[in-house]
Amino acid sequence: MKTRITELFGIEHPIIQGGMHYVGFAELAAAVSNAGGLGIITGLTQRTPELLAKEIARCRELTDQKFGVNLTFLPSVTPPDYPGYVRAIIEGGVKIVETAGNNPQKWLPALREHGIKVIHKCTSVRHALKAESIGCDAVSVDGFECGGHPGEDDIPNMILLPRAAEELKIPFVASGGMADGRSLVAALALGADGMNMGTRFIATKEAPVHDKVKAAIVAASELDTRLIMRPLRNTERVLSNDAVQRLIDKERTLGENLKFEDILPEVAGVYPAIMQRGEMDAGAWSCGMVAGLIHDVPTCKELIDRIMAQADELIQGRLARMLKQ
Ligand SMILES: Cc1cc2nc3c(=O)[nH]c(=O)nc-3n(C[C@H](O)[C@H](O)[C@H](O)COP(=O)(O)O)c2cc1C
Repeated sequence: MKTRITELFGIEHPIIQGGMHYVGFAELAAAVSNAGGLGIITGLTQRTPELLAKEIARCRELTDQKFGVNLTFLPSVTPPDYPGYVRAIIEGGVKIVETAGNNPQKWLPALREHGIKVIHKCTSVRHALKAESIGCDAVSVDGFECGGHPGEDDIPNMILLPRAAEELKIPFVASGGMADGRSLVAALALGADGMNMGTRFIATKEAPVHDKVKAAIVAASELDTRLIMRPLRNTERVLSNDAVQRLIDKERTLGENLKFEDILPEVAGVYPAIMQRGEMDAGAWSCGMVAGLIHDVPTCKELIDRIMAQADELIQGRLARMLKQ
């Protein structure tokens, strides 16, 4: 399949693995890239720029295909060493960066000067247009369904993607709720040039997370995610568990008086316990509604091959047959 996204990034299939905290290590990024998609290392999961440089080098040992690095710009009292991370990306020879969170404008000149393509993840058409206007090469449009931070507008992809297609000139991928060949064909029909998946890639053999995380995703239905931190305007979609229920109770009780400090035990620094040690109730972790469509733990290659075969059958089989009658 040839789309503006496969052309832009020089990849075989229009499928991207979005940056994921404590999931997007070299093993997963390399497996996705080796399967013909675009794997992405999560920059900030590496505690220092030096560690990111090592992770990039490790990924290069695992694949000779292109891969990217995610840089998430979060509001923070003590911001991470972003100039250092950008330097590690440039010096590591990475040619694709996925930015997310705040406006990446400040970092674009340095990245572009080194021939790095930037895909910015946004949750609204206005942010996507902003990304286009500041010179991003593509955007990843994250609908309300998505795991992680869906923003505050609550527009699902069935509306958000065609709206993005109406307004954008640069190519975009559909993100949030994408799982299989049906998702890909639907995303293309709605105007996207590919798709980005988060939750689906966690439930793969190569994802370097505890088996209990993969089992939790397979066991979950589309009804099992919750939105947290809405009162803080930092909404996150997470898988429901004891910690999340506790957090939601606090949100209910404290109402408008809720502060970030009130929920620290449920959200701060919980990822290593969950993702690496499989302590499934240690805190809140991002997960999409798409969990309801995830029923197995294939390899990345099996998953991507299956997606492309299903998309092919849908386009040339089911949909084409409808037109022939
Ligand atoms: C466990 C987890 C951690 C994530 N961490 C990040 C992150 O650090 N930075 C980021 O930009 N997006 C992050 N995301 C969002 C994904 O990159 C992607 O946009 C999202 O998962 C797409 O929705 P889906 O889960 O329905 O496929 C995370 C998602 C999950 C599930």
